[in-house]
Amino acid sequence: MRTIHVAVAGLGHVGRETVRLLLSNRERFRARLGADIELAAVADRDAAREAKALGLPPSVLRLRDPLKLATTPGIDIVVEVLGGIDAPKALALASLKGGRHLVTANKRLLSHCWEELRRAANKGSSRMYFEASVAGGIPVLQALDNSFAANRIEAVYGILNGTTNYILSSLEHSGPNATMATALKEAQAAGFAEKDPTMDLSGQDSAQKVSVLAALLTGRALPPSKIACRGITGIEREDIDFALGTLSRTPRLLGVLRLDWGKKVRLEAHVFPTLVPLEHPLAAVRRQYNAVMVKASHADDLMFYGKGAGPGPTASAVVGDIFMLCRDILGSAPARTQTPATVELIPVSESVSPYYLRLFAQDKPGVLAKITASLGRRGISISTIHQSDVPAKDGVPVVLTTHPAALGSFEGALREILALGSVSRRHTVLRMLA
Ligand SMILES: NC(=O)c1ccc[n+]([C@@H]2O[C@H](COP(=O)([O-])OP(=O)(O)OC[C@H]3O[C@@H](n4cnc5c(N)ncnc54)[C@H](OP(=O)(O)O)[C@@H]3O)[C@@H](O)[C@H]2O)c1
Repeated sequence: MRTIHVAVAGLGHVGRETVRLLLSNRERFRARLGADIELAAVADRDAAREAKALGLPPSVLRLRDPLKLATTPGIDIVVEVLGGIDAPKALALASLKGGRHLVTANKRLLSHCWEELRRAANKGSSRMYFEASVAGGIPVLQALDNSFAANRIEAVYGILNGTTNYILSSLEHSGPNATMATALKEAQAAGFAEKDPTMDLSGQDSAQKVSVLAALLTGRALPPSKIACRGITGIEREDIDFALGTLSRTPRLLGVLRLDWGKKVRLEAHVFPTLVPLEHPLAAVRRQYNAVMVKASHADDLMFYGKGAGPGPTASAVVGDIFMLCRDILGSAPARTQTPATVELIPVSESVSPYYLRLFAQDKPGVLAKITASLGRRGISISTIHQSDVPAKDGVPVVLTTHPAALGSFEGALREILALGSVSRRHTVLRMLA
């Protein structure tokens, strides 16, 4: 019986669970593959201690330096679950160039180094699988890559970050004292948010995932720096209450990738907090859960839902990749070839959406007229307008929703409105899912 040798770099949350799943499923995998998947080596700064805690047999090589896995004889598949970028990049490039297949959960590595990884994989005729890098345990990348082979993928969008979803959804029906800060603390206490949540709250984590999705679908790198990105920190409790009570909507941080396939692929890619109608399936995605909507040319609309992080879901995706790679190896499938598409990124200023705008204006004649005139001059028509008669610190709250408008026009009008002496700088802008 053939044996496929696997090495795991990084014995942290995901690495330890990956090792446990590999060992506990060995018999099942043997039965399904007609081959043995053997854990041959592990690498971690604390490899000896972690290996002992995991009860690994002495035959499993323990290394402190992950890069050594790329040259250890006999390894077929290298699993990179180190996190960070420098050590993972060195390991991934050396492994791929040397003809080893790679499994990684590292969205940061993939989104920043896609071209180099692709070239290294071509050089070594190696494969690279990265299911866990987007939406953790949800098997959406394998589906996009394989199950939709007969389709053009027209859009992939959804809730790609569990921390922000936990915060936004927990504020939906919470007590009057709940704020973004208290919801974040709760998420951190429950283990769903990192100590430093900047990447999550700023939307950058979601942008990296949109970047990975774009690379998978087009074969071309789309660096996160090119993806327009707004986080959730500007949203106030009042916005959520108003959206729920008056607009029958709720905010979700949505990563969006739209693809218009022609001679070149025109891409729209961004991350924005977005008001979703309560009857939309994304509104039912709460707490740390993720959901990815796919629009495919023939399969039409689909939704993938599940846990986007955590050792169990993430390791499940990593081991799924290992299993698929074993099938490829045993079936002698040729290395995946993908001719990178010619891609044009549509400027985000051209992206069209209805908008929600909450402003604070002085309660005097003519102010509303100036606000609506600024929007009107750019051809933006107002859908609803609500003015509260309860003044707040910065003036009277005014909430406008618009019909679909290009972001550039909307932002131009907004700049003009915020420059009015009678309007406070304090404001909230949200997209609205059409
Ligand atoms: N955790 C999740 O829910 C989740 C979900 C999706 C994707 N991911 C991705 O999975 C990867 C791993 O995440 P994790 O949560 O398992 O991280 P983690 O708990 O920090 O584990 C990483 C392990 O790798 C070790 N390590 C890192 N760099 C090393 C180096 N240069 N040499 C030797 N050892 C090194 C770390 O040792 P030290 O602690 O000593 O640094 C640690 O033991 C990341 O790319 C992450 O983005 C995680």
